[in-house]
Amino acid sequence: GNSKLWGGRFSESTSSLMESFSESVSFDRRLYRQDIAGSQAHARMLEKVGVLGAADAKAIIEGLDAIRTEIDEGRFEWKTELEDVHMNIESELTRRIGEAGKRLHTGRSRNDQVATDVRLYVRESIDDLLIVIDRLAAALLDLAEREADTVMPGFTHLQVAQPVTFGHHMLAWREQMLRDRARLVDARRRVNVLPLGSAALAGTVYPIDREFVAQQLGFDSVTENSLDAVSDRDFAIEFCACASLLMVHLSRWSEELILWSTPMFGFVNLPDRFCTGSSIMPQKKNPDVPELVRGKTGRVLGDLHALLVLMKGQPLAYNRDNQEDKEPLFDAIDTVFACLRIYAELVPSITVQRERCRAAAAAGYSTATDLADYLVKKGLPFRDAHHAVGSAVARAVEKACELSDLTLEELREFSALVEEDVYAHITLQGSLAARNHIGATSPVQVRAAIARARKRQG
Ligand code: ARG
Repeated sequence: GNSKLWGGRFSESTSSLMESFSESVSFDRRLYRQDIAGSQAHARMLEKVGVLGAADAKAIIEGLDAIRTEIDEGRFEWKTELEDVHMNIESELTRRIGEAGKRLHTGRSRNDQVATDVRLYVRESIDDLLIVIDRLAAALLDLAEREADTVMPGFTHLQVAQPVTFGHHMLAWREQMLRDRARLVDARRRVNVLPLGSAALAGTVYPIDREFVAQQLGFDSVTENSLDAVSDRDFAIEFCACASLLMVHLSRWSEELILWSTPMFGFVNLPDRFCTGSSIMPQKKNPDVPELVRGKTGRVLGDLHALLVLMKGQPLAYNRDNQEDKEPLFDAIDTVFACLRIYAELVPSITVQRERCRAAAAAGYSTATDLADYLVKKGLPFRDAHHAVGSAVARAVEKACELSDLTLEELREFSALVEEDVYAHITLQGSLAARNHIGATSPVQVRAAIARARKRQG
């Protein structure tokens, strides 16, 4: 015989090689709170519809409370031979309360049980993530305010393009993060649907009340189709897709911070407490946090990929393949949470080297477009202005000076429309101030954007 919970039809006990191959309790034990909450809601429902006696329901609920406390306190003994978190908890419950424990699984399967646990876990994870995203977005807003007037070069092709404010750049990061937040909120709506009641695949013969269970567990609704509910993991895939995009954003920020903190850029200083040194080169201070975040992005993208490939060949309904959903999912959750948390700490302590930023913006002909726009305002067609300024830049490159170092006579060689007032237009300050509409980089607009954001935050 076989002493497993499911051992009735088996004539020999499970190979220990098989046990260690198929167990999941080593990693799905982290679902214990969700598993217990789901079981308690199920027991209350069975009592309500008259399938379970009041005394049995009470014993189950209290027994599970006690088990949760033991697990919380690290006193629970997990057994590999009991396969997964679900059977570990159910076996222990029955060991403690006897008969009543054996009635808990009435009208339920591990298939709808695990789907419920994972959905609860993802929902709670999203809620935790939203809190740290809000902290990070607030930190970016503060930094943007601090650096609303700081001029830096804006880049395209990583070549100096036009002057922008550091504050504007931080608000760009924040916009990315807010879209990531919105995606998580939207995904949460599809996560928060109750699969319990689907049983193994076809539903159950008992007069269950799924709405009641949903209500107790805080689900917005119940799944429409039992085959779908026990088998699909698209909610987990969608979560990982949101997490992947978020990580791609953090990775791009990281790339910028890594560049900006080199002596060649020198735009920012990262605090010592978030950097490390070299074991051989005494001068080194390395930007490990952004480097690790950039590196961990690969993991989360890999987790998404693992789940997609896990699902692609599966016929309906539940297949054991799905047990493999947990490690990538948990890894994605842990990684994105850790990265957000450290960035929420790091961002407020970034120091901006304002003089270096300004000098870099001044050095790259970043106001050439402003000179062209100046000529357009004097009546020249934009294409002609573009060409004239191109020639002026070439002259400045030749003389190894800035545009504003060219004399009025030199500038007039390229267009007779140039007058004394040109210099006000081709300074960094003039260039910034002129971009004065919603969404643009002038300090006035950056402050207005910050004010709107603060108002929305309430
Ligand atoms: N540990 C399993 C999982 O994670 C629980 C469901 C098992 N169901 C089954 N029919 N063997 O998917």
